[in-house]
Amino acid sequence: MVFTDNDSANASEIYKAQMHVHKYLLSFQSCMAVKFATELGIADAIHRHGKPITLSGLASALNLPPSKVGVLHRFMRLLTHNGFFMKTPSQNSEEEEETYSLTLASKFLVRSNSFCLAPNAEVAFHPSMFNMWNSSKKLFTEDTQVPLFESVTGESYFDFIKNDFQFLNVFQKAVAADSEMVKLGLQQCKHVFEGLASLVDVGGGTGAVSRLILESFPHLKCTVLDLPQVVANLKTTQNLSFVGGDMFESIPSADAVLLKWVLHNWDDELSIKILKNCKEAISGKGKEGKVIIIDVVIDEAGDDRDLTELKLNFDLAMLTLLNGKEREKKEWEKLIYQAGFTGCKFTPVFGFKSLIEVYL
Ligand SMILES: C[S@@+](CC[C@H](N)C(=O)[O-])C[C@H]1O[C@@H](n2cnc3c(N)ncnc32)[C@H](O)[C@@H]1O
Repeated sequence: MVFTDNDSANASEIYKAQMHVHKYLLSFQSCMAVKFATELGIADAIHRHGKPITLSGLASALNLPPSKVGVLHRFMRLLTHNGFFMKTPSQNSEEEEETYSLTLASKFLVRSNSFCLAPNAEVAFHPSMFNMWNSSKKLFTEDTQVPLFESVTGESYFDFIKNDFQFLNVFQKAVAADSEMVKLGLQQCKHVFEGLASLVDVGGGTGAVSRLILESFPHLKCTVLDLPQVVANLKTTQNLSFVGGDMFESIPSADAVLLKWVLHNWDDELSIKILKNCKEAISGKGKEGKVIIIDVVIDEAGDDRDLTELKLNFDLAMLTLLNGKEREKKEWEKLIYQAGFTGCKFTPVFGFKSLIEVYL
């Protein structure tokens, strides 16, 4: 028996600990409820309705047969408890049912929003993810540098994405939705882009972040460097161009290089290689050149529990998919100095991501 008479924990603390364990044993169901809410389009249906909707109204908007209203109610109860919907009790006795409305969280599941996270749900709940996690024991039993995803599917994660046109499309939408959120933090860090004439957005995908930056700095010349399959057929505009290439080979020259949500994909050795190529790319600008990183910084002492849990979950995602990692401040500093830079500054302005300015 682990709990002894001498154990300082009282019965209520022990029950609390038991509940804590059960919570995590079942929390995948909370995730699945979000998956089904996204697939069914619950948030879209409520949004289209334009006002709070009754359960039976929701079931009919979702084309569910009346026999499924009970199941829908059970899912809505959990999702409402978890902050995805808001329940309003019926206001008067003539109204039969309580109504559901959107919360800030479920507005992120409405597909007509540019920051919609429904594509992220498709990426997170893709069958390849479940297959990979079913084999996660390999992480501890196999002595290999090959990322778990690659060892299970036979393809690197980025090859897997680029070889499946449909998935590539969803992945790009997922990343672009995240980039839309940069808009909210950009106001606080405009100074970072002031005085720059050119910027290379390395691993910039479809150029969503570059477009946002251009809205505030229309005279900047932005170049998005990404894999050839990603940038093929993307439309160049006057100040935004796309280059298909490999950041491990070379990066076009510019006053500044942007790396948003890129370095967490790679281990330290490869990240240093990317940073050294960035250094080379900005060397023409002399001391004025800079690298602008937007990425996760783990801060267990400063962040609240939920935020740290999110960051640590991203860390396991990076470990399993790509052998990448989320980093603490001192790990970032080590990486940056090892790549030959002399200074950096951290500002937590983008929700769970921070701005890291890196100087020559
Ligand atoms: C997580 S996404 C970030 C996209 C974008 N920076 C954003 O946050 O909106 C990582 C990007 O790195 C790109 N990438 C992967 N390997 C690359 C390489 N060797 N050279 C250039 N880009 C690469 C991927 O295609 C993908 O668009």
